[in-house]
Amino acid sequence: MKSVLILNGPNLNLLGTRQVEIYGKTTLEQIIERCRHYGRSLGFEVKDAQSNHEGALINFIQAAAEAEPHVVGIILNAGAYTHTSIAIMDAISSVGLPVVEVHLSDIQAREPFRQFSYISRVAIAQICGKGPDGYIEALDILAKHVQSQS
Ligand code: DQA
Repeated sequence: MKSVLILNGPNLNLLGTRQVEIYGKTTLEQIIERCRHYGRSLGFEVKDAQSNHEGALINFIQAAAEAEPHVVGIILNAGAYTHTSIAIMDAISSVGLPVVEVHLSDIQAREPFRQFSYISRVAIAQICGKGPDGYIEALDILAKHVQSQS
């Protein structure tokens, strides 16, 4: 079975209680559970990881490229590293796996410093402002992408 990695960055472990007016009340665990379910209907095993550390996120991206069963793509919410991390951008370019960038909030409608994304330079798509549904949409995009490549 093909697998997809859903990778979440700093502070996303606090979803459900963190700034609920921006990020909502759904926990990360609930988002992942929903994705696991939906992913299965698309023929994907959903793996997930979260870290508050930039280097750990890079290690997860590198490991995904070597994982078994084969990881066919990554759904990435890099949190604040989205706006700062050339290193994560480089990791994505280095492994060559398709990445769909997700943000719960609409980063384009927030502070100017959130409107720039290093990840979007290497991602096949960016989804923002759709809350947890954005992760589901990302699975659809990855499924279509994988199909178009095979
Ligand atoms: C976020 C948006 C980022 O600007 C912020 O730093 C986050 C969450 C989102 O999902 O909307 O941590 O990636």
